[in-house]
Amino acid sequence: MTARAGRRSIARSDRAPFHNKTAEREDRMPARLGAAIAASLLLLLSPTLADPSGDPAAVSSTDGEYSDKQGNPTFHIDKDGTVDWYTSVGYIRYTANCMQCHGPDGLGSTFAPSLVDALQNLSYSQFLDTVTNGKKNVSASQDLVMPAFGVNPNVMCYIDAIFIYLRARSDGALGRGQPAKNAPKPAGYSATEDACMG
Ligand code: HEC
Repeated sequence: MTARAGRRSIARSDRAPFHNKTAEREDRMPARLGAAIAASLLLLLSPTLADPSGDPAAVSSTDGEYSDKQGNPTFHIDKDGTVDWYTSVGYIRYTANCMQCHGPDGLGSTFAPSLVDALQNLSYSQFLDTVTNGKKNVSASQDLVMPAFGVNPNVMCYIDAIFIYLRARSDGALGRGQPAKNAPKPAGYSATEDACMG
C-alpha cells in the first residue's frame, strides 16, 4: 500500500475533525495547481518576459543598428511595419546561411531546432558563442551538429543582423516571410560591410 493510499484509508475510517481537515486540504490542491498552470501559461504568452537578453525596446542607434538599454543589438519596427535595416539584412542572411537546417522563418526543421524557440532561452552572448564555436549535443540520439561559423565572413559580418532578425521573430514582433518594408541603408554601412568581408 502506498503512503498516500494509506492516508486516505485512515481518513475514511476515522471521522475525527482533524482527519477531515486533512482531506479538505487535499481537495483544494487541484484548484491551486490549476492557478499555477494558468500563471505559467500567461508567462509563456507574454512575449517580452522570455527574452534572456532583456527588454528589447530600442534606446539608441549607431549607424542604423539599434541597441536596447543593456547594450544588446535589437530591432526597431515602426507602427506601419517598416523594419530597421539590420532586421531586413538579418532575414536575407538567415535565409542564405541558416534556413537549410533551421527552417523557414526560424521555425525549425527535422535537421535543427527552432531558433524562434531557442532565443527564449539564449542571451545575445550565448547566441554569439554557439554560432562562432558550433554545438554538438552529445546526448542526442541523432547525430545533429551545429557547424562553427567563426571564420565564415558570410555569417560573422552579419551576425548582429541575424541575431536582431531572430530576436524580433522570437519576441513576436515580426511575422513570417520577408519584411515588406525596411528603413533605407544607413550611410557608411557599405564601407563597414566591405571592410569586414575583406
Ligand atoms: C548544417 C545545419 C545547420 C546550419 C547551416 C546551421 N545550424 Fe544552427 N544548429 C544546427 C543543429 C543540428 C543544432 C542543434 C545542435 C545541438 O543541440 O547540439 C543547431 C543549434 C543552433 C543554436 C543553439 C540552439 C540552442 O537552443 O542552444 C543556435 C543559436 C544556432 N544553431 C544558430 C544558427 C545560425 C544563426 C545559423 C546560420 C548562421 C545556423 N545555426 C546554421 C544545425 C545547423
